[in-house]
Amino acid sequence: MGTIGLFYGSTYGMTEKVAGKIKAAFGKHQVDLYNVKDASKEALEKYDYLIFGTSAWGIGEMQDDWERWISSLEGINFTGKKVALFGLGDQVKYPESFVDGLGTLYCRLPDKSVVTGEWPVEGYKYYFSLAEKEGRFVGLVLDEHNQKEKTDGRIKKWVKQLEEEFV
Ligand SMILES: Cc1cc2nc3c(=O)[nH]c(=O)nc-3n(C[C@H](O)[C@H](O)[C@H](O)COP(=O)(O)O)c2cc1C
Repeated sequence: MGTIGLFYGSTYGMTEKVAGKIKAAFGKHQVDLYNVKDASKEALEKYDYLIFGTSAWGIGEMQDDWERWISSLEGINFTGKKVALFGLGDQVKYPESFVDGLGTLYCRLPDKSVVTGEWPVEGYKYYFSLAEKEGRFVGLVLDEHNQKEKTDGRIKKWVKQLEEEFV
């Protein structure tokens, strides 16, 4: 597995903090972190292994900087690349739109065939989520408001999964 490019958008720094934890969980394996606020399309093109992370805002919205940056993905040839997604949200305050930013990010990807790193919906309590597809989340889901204590374990498990799926 080559170097991983991890691109995230974060308003209050929660997704940024989690991005750092994901990098740490890969241990010696190189993960380059980019805040999409100031990342370039050229940076993204360099990587065959990509991780995208966003928090959830408004009604089905990605984090603001992703909203501005998502068009950078247009025209990129994803053939041979693998993309894993993660999202942050708050299932107690927003149970009808839990981690919708993650769902929207998935919907807006120009090539969904390269997406890997699905995650089980068990262990969360919500009514609706755009990030749920056929009974699974389209990527890792984290809730730093209500299940902070589960974050490290979830990351560890997901990273192990990616180490097998990123081949
Ligand atoms: C105005 C506002 C709207 C939000 N909307 C949602 C939402 O629809 N669904 C959800 O799961 N979380 C929602 N959240 C929670 C954020 O996604 C959560 O706080 C996240 O951890 C923020 O991460 P960040 O600091 O990296 O942006 C909202 C938070 C705020 C302040």
